Amino acid sequence: MPKGVFVNIVGCILTMFLSLFCWTQLTAEEEGPEVYQQEVQQMTTLECARCHYAVFADIRDTGGAHQIPCRECHETFHTYRPGKNWKDVVPDCTTCHDEQHGEDFPDCLRCHENAHAPSHSLNVKKMAEDCTACHTDQATEAKQHPSGHTETPCVKCHYDSHGFIATCTECHKEPHTPFVDDATCIACHPPHSPLEVSYSANTANSICAGCHDDVSAKLLSSDKGHALLQCVFCHADKHRFVPTCQHCHHAGPHSKEMVGQFKGCQDCHGDAHALILQEGQKPVPGAAGNVQTASPS
Ligand code: HEC
Ligand code: HEC
Ligand code: HEC
Ligand code: HEC
Ligand code: HEC
Ligand code: HEC
Ligand code: HEC
Ligand code: HEC
Ligand code: HEC
Ligand code: HEC
Ligand code: HEC
Ligand code: HEC
Repeated sequence: MPKGVFVNIVGCILTMFLSLFCWTQLTAEEEGPEVYQQEVQQMTTLECARCHYAVFADIRDTGGAHQIPCRECHETFHTYRPGKNWKDVVPDCTTCHDEQHGEDFPDCLRCHENAHAPSHSLNVKKMAEDCTACHTDQATEAKQHPSGHTETPCVKCHYDSHGFIATCTECHKEPHTPFVDDATCIACHPPHSPLEVSYSANTANSICAGCHDDVSAKLLSSDKGHALLQCVFCHADKHRFVPTCQHCHHAGPHSKEMVGQFKGCQDCHGDAHALILQEGQKPVPGAAGNVQTASPS
């Protein structure tokens, strides 16, 4: 017999005595033998609630779609006695529901702990091993992109109730960029594969500078055309993407033969973030307007 039943026995017996006492006080004198000529009405939900107040309150407060009359589920009741199987005296979920989540989940009350409040009582901690059975996409994503989050159990972030989502700063107290809201972090970090960083074309250089201060400083102190560009104009879409010079400039204003004699454009132009245009070499006609694509494709 479940523990709650014992608790209820005490409460209910007390209530029974109290209410019987009240009823006799109020009605005993009026009642004659004609009482036995009256129709006996079935108990209503409110009458059940007189003794089973805790159950009534559960359904009222958190029952959700189970706010249906007691008797629709409990067609028979008060039939329990020692030796009888509890399962045979209380309704089976599958009298009204199918095997909602397939054959692998027959034990409804393991997760829906309170039959009277089945959604509210979903116990996330006890479901910790079951998340991936229903959410294969997130589990696969985390496995395919190893990160600190792959090692973090689902229920560390989704802990409070089913569908609850923790905020980034619960664990990352001082992120590298000021916290605005989770959506801003998630815009760069997919939560189940946080190292697959991608970002939009309007990401501010200051965010990159938080970690790449050396590069940022170089760019800021340059007086060449690149200094006017956003980091993400060149390093577009995905973190660690590095474009080639040719991606935007092709051979630049130079002939392929000339360029072919050098290891790369950087031999003469130096660092992409601190360009140099060597003095004393022949000016190249039409040089300025040679950018071929606005952004790498
Ligand atoms: C949606 C169906 C449903 C409704 C509606 C429902 N019950 Fe139940 N009830 C159950 C099921 C299933 C169990 C068995 C739960 C278990 O084994 O833990 C149960 C168990 C019980 C128990 C014994 C265990 C306990 O929680 O104390 C009592 C008493 C009870 N119900 C009373 C009521 C009363 C009173 C109402 C109306 C106020 C009601 N039930 C409404 C399905 C229902
Ligand atoms: C006068 C008090 C009283 C009323 C009214 C009452 N019960 Fe009970 N009920 C009890 C007691 C006492 C028990 C045994 C202890 C327990 O399981 O909580 C019990 C047990 C139960 C159980 C669990 C075991 C079993 O034998 O079925 C269910 C289900 C139940 N009642 C449903 C109902 C429903 C439904 C109603 C209204 C139609 C209702 N009860 C009305 C006192 C009452
Ligand atoms: C007498 C019929 C009946 C029984 C027995 C019953 N349910 Fe329900 N249940 C319903 C109805 C009706 C709804 C609302 C419509 C729907 O979702 O199908 C519902 C809805 C639900 C919901 C959605 C709740 C919400 O608030 O959205 C869950 C979860 C659920 N039931 C679980 C269970 C579990 C677990 C059991 C067994 C412990 C059970 N039900 C037993 C009739 C029943
Ligand atoms: C492993 C845990 C687990 C088990 C076991 C389980 N459920 Fe659920 N159930 C859930 C979760 C999580 C949800 C919420 C997600 C959803 O809406 O499907 C849910 C939702 C539901 C819903 C609401 C569906 C909807 O569309 O609103 C019903 C009805 C339901 N379960 C019935 C059952 C029944 C009946 C059983 C037993 C045959 C059962 N569950 C077994 C975890 C479980
Ligand atoms: C029985 C299948 C089932 C199990 C087990 C299950 N879920 Fe779910 N979960 C669902 C379904 C179905 C939905 C979609 C419900 C909806 O769209 O409202 C959902 C939705 C979610 C959501 C998204 C909620 C939102 O607002 O978008 C999160 C987060 C989630 N589940 C996490 C978990 C975690 C963590 C676990 C393990 C503790 C888990 N789930 C166990 C079926 C399940
Ligand atoms: C480090 C924290 C963290 C961990 C660990 C984590 N999640 Fe999430 N999860 C999130 C965040 C944040 C969101 C919200 C995503 C959004 O709003 O776009 C989310 C969303 C979800 C959703 C809703 C659908 C979606 O993809 O947006 C599901 C389902 C989900 N997670 C399941 C899981 C499962 C299953 C695991 C374990 C394999 C898991 N999560 C591990 C943080 C986490
Ligand atoms: C429950 C705690 C928790 C929450 C919530 C959480 N993280 Fe993490 N995160 C971790 C842990 C643990 C690591 C492993 C590295 C570490 O020690 O920080 C990590 C690592 C990371 C990493 C680096 C990955 C690696 O492998 O080095 C990124 C990026 C990250 N988190 C982003 C986020 C973002 C964005 C959010 C919010 C959507 C978030 N985290 C929410 C626990 C969490
Ligand atoms: C513009 C994109 C962007 C935004 C917005 C962003 N991050 Fe990052 N984050 C990155 C990049 C890039 C890395 C470095 C990843 C790597 O090492 O490959 C990183 C690394 C991290 C790490 C790993 C450890 C560290 O600090 O070096 C954590 C944790 C992290 N981010 C959390 C957050 C959180 C929390 C937020 C929201 C406040 C956030 N990030 C917002 C781009 C971003
Ligand atoms: C939280 C710290 C962090 C932030 C923010 C960050 N990065 Fe990084 N970035 C790193 C780390 C760590 C590396 C790896 C460095 C290494 O391997 O030496 C890296 C590497 C790079 C690389 C070089 C890849 C290679 O193969 O050499 C580029 C390009 C880059 N980041 C661009 C950016 C851009 C653009 C931004 C802003 C959108 C940014 N990063 C924001 C931490 C960060
Ligand atoms: C994502 C595109 C992109 C990439 C990659 C790129 N550039 Fe540029 N570059 C530009 C743009 C845009 C300008 C400015 C053009 C203008 O002002 O007409 C520019 C200007 C220049 C200039 C003229 C600077 C000045 O101040 O006059 C030189 C030289 C140059 N790039 C060389 C390079 C070299 C060398 C590389 C590789 C290390 C490179 N670029 C990579 C887009 C790019
Ligand atoms: C004009 C395009 C362009 C702009 C703007 C640009 N980069 Fe780069 N970046 C490159 C190219 C091309 C390379 C490869 C350099 C090489 O191979 O010498 C590179 C290399 C890097 C590297 C790896 C090597 C190194 O020098 O450390 C990092 C990190 C980096 N960039 C970060 C940034 C950041 C942060 C910004 C903004 C502050 C930025 N970049 C702006 C084109 C650009
Ligand atoms: C032998 C050295 C050398 C090599 C190698 C070289 N350049 Fe140049 N580049 C120059 C010189 C010199 C100028 C012209 C400077 C001036 O006109 O003030 C120039 C000009 C440019 C300009 C136009 C600058 C402006 O002011 O408009 C671009 C763009 C450019 N180069 C791109 C490239 C690219 C892309 C590569 C590699 C494919 C490359 N260069 C290789 C020396 C070189």
